[in-house]
Order: sequence, then C-alpha cells, then structure tokens
Amino acid sequence: MKKETFKVTPWEVKGDVDYTQLVKEFGVSRLSDKLLKRIEKHAGELHLMLRRGVFFAHRDLDWLLDEYEKGNKFFLYTGCGPSGGIHLGHVGTWLFTKWLQEKFDCELWFQFTDDEKFLFKDKSYEEIQKWTYENMLDVAALGFKPGKTHFIVDTRHAGLLYPIAVKFAKKITFSTVKASFGMTNEDNIGKIFYTSMQAAPAVVPSVLKGKNVPCLIPLGIDQDTHFRVARDVYPKLGFYKPAIMHSVFWPALKGPEGKMGASDENSAIFTTDSAKEVERKIKKYAFSGGRDTVEEHRRIGGNVDVDVAFQYLRFGFMEDDVKLEGIRRAYENGDMLTSELKSIAIKEINEFLKEHQLKRAKAKKDVEKFLWKG
Ligand code: TYM
Repeated sequence: MKKETFKVTPWEVKGDVDYTQLVKEFGVSRLSDKLLKRIEKHAGELHLMLRRGVFFAHRDLDWLLDEYEKGNKFFLYTGCGPSGGIHLGHVGTWLFTKWLQEKFDCELWFQFTDDEKFLFKDKSYEEIQKWTYENMLDVAALGFKPGKTHFIVDTRHAGLLYPIAVKFAKKITFSTVKASFGMTNEDNIGKIFYTSMQAAPAVVPSVLKGKNVPCLIPLGIDQDTHFRVARDVYPKLGFYKPAIMHSVFWPALKGPEGKMGASDENSAIFTTDSAKEVERKIKKYAFSGGRDTVEEHRRIGGNVDVDVAFQYLRFGFMEDDVKLEGIRRAYENGDMLTSELKSIAIKEINEFLKEHQLKRAKAKKDVEKFLWKG
C-alpha cells in the first residue's frame, strides 16, 4: 500500500503511516532537542522511548514545562478501551506514562471507556464488562503509584464524568464529528456523543479542586483526534487545554503497515500469552528484514528498519543502547541471522511477560483500590 493511502483514526490504522504527513495534518509538533533537554533536566535522564523517537510529537509541552518550572504541577491522564486483551503496543504507552509519574511525581487519572467499546464494537455489554476487569488487572500490574493513581470506568463513574461531558457535547456539532471521524447518518447516536466522554477526564482534577490544574496526556497518535476536536472547547469552558505527548505505533507482527492491534490474534503479542505462544508467534509471523538465503544475508546483511523483532527491542525491550547498536550492526553486516535476532526478542519479551503475569495474578487482590471512590 502506498504512503498516500494510509489511514489513522482512533478505531482504525491502515497502511504505511507517514508520520511527517500526520504531524502536518493533525497540527502537532515534533519533540525538539530543546524540549528533550528540558525533560532530561527535570527527570535526570531520558526514557528510551524519548531517546529513540518512539514518543515523537506533542501539543503544548513547552507551556506545560513553563508551568511546572513556575511550581504549577501537572497531572497525567490516559486510558484504555476495553474490548480485548492488552498487547505490547498498549503496554509501551503505559510504561512511558509510569516513567512520567515517577519522574514528575504526578497523579494519574486512568479512564476505561467501556461505553466506547460497547458502542463501537459488535460485542455485548457483558463481554465489555469482562474485558474492563481483565484490562484493569494489566494496568494495575504495571506498578503505578497506588495512592496517586485513579481508575475511572465510564459507566461506573458516570456521576463524575457525565456532568462534564454534557458541557463538551453542547459545544461540539454533529458536522464536526462527521468530518473528524468520518461518521455517517447510519452510525448510532452514542458514537456521536462519545468524544465528550474522552475529553472530560482532562479536567476532572480541576473540577474537583475548583482551580485549574495542568494536564499531560501520553497516547498513541491514533487517539489524538478526540482531543483535536475538543481542543477549542476547553478554554470556552474556562479550562486549560491539555498538553499531549504522542507515540508512533508499535508494528504488528505481520509487518510495518498498520499497527499492533487486539483484533487480530496472530498480529499481536498479548500480556497473557505463554512463553511458548510468544515463541511461536515471533518465529512464525514476525516480519523479517532478513534475506531469502543465508548466503545472501551474510553477503548483503539484513534490514533492521522493517524487521519487527528488532523494532520490538528498539521500542522497549532492550534498555541498553550499546547492546542494541551492537545487534543493529551485526544484523546489518550479515553476522547475525534472523533466527538469532528473533531468539533475542523472544527472550527479552518473555522475561518481561513472566514478571508481568505474576504481578497480574497478584493484582486480582488489590485492583479495587485503584478505583476512584470520591
Ligand atoms: P486503546 O485501548 O485502543 O489503546 C490504549 C492506548 O494504547 C495506544 N495504542 C498503541 N500505541 C502504540 N502502538 C500500538 N500498536 C498501539 N495500540 C494502541 C493507544 O493509542 C492508547 O493510547 N479511546 C481509548 C481509551 C482512552 C484514552 C484516553 C487513550 C480513553 N481516554 C486518553 C489515550 C488517552 C482507546 O480505545 O484506547
């Protein structure tokens, strides 16, 4: 598929995403070296997803850091749409969020949009509730600060969210929603309203405290559209516009087009996959930048840019820059074969998942304590 034909919406990512074009179309800014230095100054280091350009763009981050430097602390807000298992792409975004929480000592508001998934997917209300619980276990297992992390579930916390959401809804027209998301007259009326539910948590602490609190939203860039639509409404309602940091997409196993998503079992690695399953998926499906024969590979080397196993290491599973660079060089000059590179990725991912699965089992006991009780 040609670059011109890619598509990025909160519900569908297709084709070979051209991030330069996306930055222009969405009106976001690339993270500059100057901004990265400012983050490093406060955090004491740069997260690997910042060093490697996985989180690559932003809105109003300069403003947020200005406020922070004046002593006006911000909170974090992000979320999950519960309609299936949690995969590595989700986890990446949330591990970065966790790093921000630790380095900037922030509160985190985490929204579970069970209403969204019920409205947009062909799944029953009961099944979505089951996924909401399952997904909460994963988020709880990632180790966010218990006292400072608040889970809100749209249908359970409607009393908190709905009074805010209606104020957004009154200022967003159907024609804006149609133009921004490609909705039609045949779409159900819940879908049309939904953006106002996702806009609301960015001002919940301001509403609760009775004074404006800056907000930073880390997300995959597919989710940006909701906030672009709501952007002008925040100041109209007397709130700050939230700052945003955007991640590129973790690739699907099958290759660089589209993104890792939960709807295709063999295209995603899920947090609940067994070590054997991870091995099978990577060996069988992970798109390789290797050559057709060993001889050819030894002679001209592999291509790490399209190699999915290498990309998973780069995106998050190999912390050490020097080691990663060593792998890149060995693969590119033909010393390392695809089977060896895949083995490294399998080992690193399985080490993470083993630990995560233990924490996930423990989370069954204490997931309730993350739920907002106010
Ligand atoms: P959902 O459940 O589709 O995804 C949750 C988060 O994971 C990101 N993500 C990815 N990031 C990188 N690579 C991928 N392959 C990949 N797949 C998913 C998403 O961009 C998102 O950040 N409507 C939202 C839930 C939500 C939300 C929010 C998300 C509610 N409030 C505020 C971000 C910020 C949803 O369905 O996300």
